[in-house]
Order: sequence, then structure tokens, then C-alpha cells
Amino acid sequence: MKEIISTIKNLCRERNAVILAHNYQPPEIQEIADFVGDSLDLSRKASEMAADVIVFCGVRFMAETAAVISQEKIVLLPDLDAGCPLADTIDADKLELKKKECPPGTIVVCYVNSPVEVKAGSDICCTSANAARIVDSLGEANILFVPDENLGRWVSSRTGKKLILWKGSCPAHVKLRAHDIIELRKKYPEALVMVHPECLDEVTQIADAVLGTGGMVEYAQTTSAREIIVGTEEGMIYRLQKENPEKAFYPACEKLLCVDMKVISLQKVMESLKELKHRIVIPGEIADKAGKSIERMLKM
Ligand code: 13P
Repeated sequence: MKEIISTIKNLCRERNAVILAHNYQPPEIQEIADFVGDSLDLSRKASEMAADVIVFCGVRFMAETAAVISQEKIVLLPDLDAGCPLADTIDADKLELKKKECPPGTIVVCYVNSPVEVKAGSDICCTSANAARIVDSLGEANILFVPDENLGRWVSSRTGKKLILWKGSCPAHVKLRAHDIIELRKKYPEALVMVHPECLDEVTQIADAVLGTGGMVEYAQTTSAREIIVGTEEGMIYRLQKENPEKAFYPACEKLLCVDMKVISLQKVMESLKELKHRIVIPGEIADKAGKSIERMLKM
């Protein structure tokens, strides 16, 4: 392992490359990354970092977003199998059909967990960190929110706006049920509960805080609670525990695992840097259109 890590570091220097990793990545990937963050932070970093190459340790839609906003950089995804079943619930054709069912003038807000062609067909992108703020900023317009139904419902409850929802969800987050939280609260009566807005309504309704992964990092640092039940992908616990060694973090349910996030390995990162594979290239027109909806989000 030491040898692979040192080869990765040398290759990064030679290629002027940076490694970006999502909060759900395995510990050894978080440890070698130049930056670990949530979807929003990672998009920002991708455009800000002065590098020729970005190795994106996350899933495909995240690397696509980086490739759209940093077209001058080489963006690599170490394993093309790192997909997202939530993003796969929608494509450009399905979106166009849905738009036809909506009243004229409907604004399309697409969650970042979506294919780049769907971002290209949307008016504005959002992440879990800014979805409520973005929807709130859109005034009285009709809004079609794709593809996460649970996030959409939560945003609707936060903003008081009725949204037209797409029937997509994250197969990992929907495994967490209200009874899991109720049981864990009996076991850890002092603990606070924070959950991701991709969780079911029955879960977000009884949590103490509903936050994206970046919000969870902040909440864990600032709360006076010593114990926190974490309702999101299990990879999150590593960072939370590392940054808050004096606090205890409990996974809200053992089934909350994103297999796509775990296909990235040190070996694959090394191969990716050696052979500059797998490069994510977005065709011009799609990149331009998707870029507009992402830039609109980043400006807010
Ligand atoms: P965050 O934007 O909160 O990092 O979430 C990304 C994600 O894919 C959740 O399943």
C-alpha cells in the first residue's frame, strides 16, 4: 500500500494532478485526496484548483459535472462502473416527455445526481446543500424537480412550494426506515439524529437535522451533542469520526451502503494517473447547455 501511495503522489506531481474525493469514499482514498467534500464543494474545487488533471474519486455524475465546468482540464474517473442508480432513473428523452406534461413556463430544477444530458435540458442545477435556497429563489413559477422524489418532497416542505416531482430515489437512502431511528434512540437516548434529505419522508420528519454531507460535517463540529446517529451512506462516518475524535457516531442502519462509491481503489487511482484513463469528455453542445445550469447554481 505504501508503494502505491508513493507512486500516486509522484504521478500527481508529474502530471500536475489533484485528487478530489467525495465524503462517501473509502478511508484510504480520503487519505490521499487533496480535497474531500460534498457535491457542491467538489464542483467549486474542480473549477478553482490550478491543475491540469483532476482524478475524481466519486461517481460518474460528479466527474461529469467537473468536466463541464473545467473543460480545459483532463477529468478522470478511475472506474467507469462508478454510476448512480438514482441518476439512471432519468435521461434526456424521459425529461423531454415529462416537460411536455407540465404547464408552459415550468422551470426545471435538476439535482446534481443526474446525467449530464438531463442537466443540459434543465434550467438550473442544485445539490442537497442548496436545493431549498434555489427553489425558494424561483418565485411563483411552476417547478419540475428531478430526479430525487424524496429530496423534492423535503424541499417542498421547507419552502412551502408545491413541486412537480420525478419518481426517482436513492436505493441506499430509502433503506433507512423510521423504526431504525426509533430503536437507535432507545439505545442512545442522548444522541442527536442527522439524516440526508434523500431519505424517506418518515425519516426526515423525525430527525433532529436534515443535511447534505457538507452540512453534516459542520453540524458534527458545532453541536454540543457528544453522540450522533448518522443517516447517510456509511463512508461518511470515517470523516466525522476523524474530525471529531471526542464524539461518537453511529450508523443509522447497516444497509446504507453505496456500492458504486466503493469501486474506486488506490490501485485504480494509480492506473488512472499512469494511463490518463478514463477521461470524461462531454460533447460541446451538451457541455455548454449543462454548464449554464451548473453555473447558474454556483453563482447563487
Ligand atoms: P451530498 O451533495 O450531500 O454530498 O450528497 C451526494 C450524494 O450523492 C448523496 O447520495
